[in-house]
Amino acid sequence: MIRICPSILNANFDELPSEIAKVAQVSDLLHLDVMDNKFVPNFTFSFERAREIIEGSQLPVDVHLMIANADKEALPYLDTSAFSITVHFEACADPLSLLTEIRRRGKRSAIAIKPGTAIDEIRELIPAVDMILVMTVEPGFGGQKFMSEMMPKVEVARRWLDEGGFGDTWLQVDGGVNLETISKAKQAGADTFVAGSVVFNSPDPAGIVETLRQLAAAVK
Ligand code: DX5
Ligand code: ZN
Repeated sequence: MIRICPSILNANFDELPSEIAKVAQVSDLLHLDVMDNKFVPNFTFSFERAREIIEGSQLPVDVHLMIANADKEALPYLDTSAFSITVHFEACADPLSLLTEIRRRGKRSAIAIKPGTAIDEIRELIPAVDMILVMTVEPGFGGQKFMSEMMPKVEVARRWLDEGGFGDTWLQVDGGVNLETISKAKQAGADTFVAGSVVFNSPDPAGIVETLRQLAAAVK
């Protein structure tokens, strides 16, 4: 199963409903990047604005919280209709409690790690998560280069999920995914792919989503 999640970070924020509509028929999830200008040096949405986007989206929303003090600051998102909520390992004092609470509130729970964080750091959290996100760029901005050197982390996570019987846990990559790099990520074991600039900088966003899916599916 392959999932393609367009990120609207590179979409036109003033025209989000029509931007989302361009990919809605062909995508699995909408990836919403929330940045607070503390955890990362960029700001995207206030909680209120994020909530409007989540509630208005035709697609289920995969909320990627790049926010500091996630133990507290992620809690308002539990009251939205978000489909899944991803918090950063580096931003939580007690990730296990937060992930458990996300699940208890009926959302898929996910843990993200930045490029500098080892995959071993999150091994014990696997039973509490529905998705692992291995960042393939330094979080903060779209349009950066895919870090192939993160693929060993994806391979290790794939092995843990397969060998541990966590067949319902998804493995996501985010950052620099494009028509060349998606195959590398699939080969390493990812099944859920965020793609921002390659989709929304194209005149045919839906066509790009379909092509990304075909390229991933071609890797066995
Ligand atoms: C980066 C964000 C990504 C970003 C991906 O911090 O988490 O989701 O939007 O954009 P591209 O695909 O352009 O790297
Ligand atoms: Zn993201």
